[in-house]
Amino acid sequence: AKSLPVEKATLTAPPMVPPPITRNYPAKVQIHLETQEKVGRMADGVEYVFWSFGGSVPGSFIRVREGDEVEFTLSNHPSSKMPHNIDLHAVTGPGGGAVSSFTSPGHSSTFSFQVINPGLYVYHCATAPVGMHVANGMYGLILVEPKDGLPKVDREYYVVQGDFYTKGAYGEAGVQPFDMEKAIKEQPDYVVFNGAVGSLTGDKALTAKVGETVRLYVGNGGPNLVSSFHVIGEIFDNVYVEGGDLVNHNVQTTLVPAGGSAIVDFKLDVPGNFILVDHSIFRAFNKGALGILKVEGKEDKGIYSGKQKDSVYLPEGSAVQSVGDAAPFVTAQNKAEKIRFGQRIYEANCQACHQAKGEGIKGAFPPVAKSDYLNADHDRAIRVILNGLSGAVKVNGETYNSVMPAMQLNDMDIANVLTYLLNNFGNKGGEVTAEQVANQRH
Ligand code: HEM
Ligand code: CU
Repeated sequence: AKSLPVEKATLTAPPMVPPPITRNYPAKVQIHLETQEKVGRMADGVEYVFWSFGGSVPGSFIRVREGDEVEFTLSNHPSSKMPHNIDLHAVTGPGGGAVSSFTSPGHSSTFSFQVINPGLYVYHCATAPVGMHVANGMYGLILVEPKDGLPKVDREYYVVQGDFYTKGAYGEAGVQPFDMEKAIKEQPDYVVFNGAVGSLTGDKALTAKVGETVRLYVGNGGPNLVSSFHVIGEIFDNVYVEGGDLVNHNVQTTLVPAGGSAIVDFKLDVPGNFILVDHSIFRAFNKGALGILKVEGKEDKGIYSGKQKDSVYLPEGSAVQSVGDAAPFVTAQNKAEKIRFGQRIYEANCQACHQAKGEGIKGAFPPVAKSDYLNADHDRAIRVILNGLSGAVKVNGETYNSVMPAMQLNDMDIANVLTYLLNNFGNKGGEVTAEQVANQRH
């Protein structure tokens, strides 16, 4: 095969989209994406540990051209606790790249593929437990432009819906852990655009001018809900149904499936605030699925006369923000302190899977409450945390055959979290020391 010209892809964070591709020949496009796990704002006073591609939810927007050869490098930030990978729906090949891109914290993986089919595609993490990785924000969009490009518009934006499951109810303050049970029941506390309540309102609202055409690349990361995407006060002139070639016209609301997309465009005839919603409407007004397109320009009383109603106002905020590194290093002075410190480690690192009372989830995550497996052998439990665990294990008479990732924790944190577990949740007591943990490392 003759070699193609090489270029680096321009990636953008939401709601921005890279510029249209102007070349009329295929290229070898190099893409570098980094997976990150960090605390960000979900709503005012509510934080969440988002897992992301490129530090934003949705992840960086990728734009390539039909026929391009993509060389994809996925790096997993060294501070990550989990391995991650990527399944791009634009890939023709097993798992959409999932196996080839499986990457441990502090590592990078590279694989290549040709983009054969034009369209707007979702990408997402496919590491077990897949639902949890997606629910924490690991999704984004890749646009494969058709050879002749898309019709020109004045502005393009990137909007992706996602549903989120937190221990606390909607609006409950603090860093909210992921709630696996609500996720399985498909009962989200938050349904939002671009990773947070208010990520497209206030001074984060999308903007345009009267007379312009606007195209929205709309995706739905799920993990569960199907979106009834609608812009209040506008009619979509064109909808690329499900992100494919079929173009429908004069559409009010378009379905965007979980793991799917739609491209919509429309011309703006009058000024005002146009409100993006999931028209499954409680999600918009009670769970956060609401954004604003603010249009400025001359009124046209012939098209729309009468008082413009005030928009709903939700204070702004970005999807994912960096916070400083972890708290300063403090050593527990006694067993009671170890238990107290260990509780924090548990809530931040274990609870998402093993649950708030250590009860686990039947068929998926074994209990660490009253766990015969845990109590029987402290050194073995240390190794589970250090190395992870896979294959069949029997805990309290039930067999689990799943995967626990190795946890990136220091000796003291592991000693503390195990001491916490041993002295809570009906376990048999005891204490684990940092030296004991060090002895289990090879
Ligand atoms: C197994 C502790 C984090 C998923 C276990 C076991 C222990 C344990 C002691 C052995 C079986 C038992 O006693 O129940 C911990 C601690 C964690 C942690 C202290 C945090 C530092 C996680 C996370 C996940 C997870 C974040 C999910 C991503 C699992 C699974 C098993 C397991 C699936 C069973 C593996 C198999 O079937 O082979 N864990 N865990 N654990 N854990 Fe964790
Ligand atoms: Cu992941």
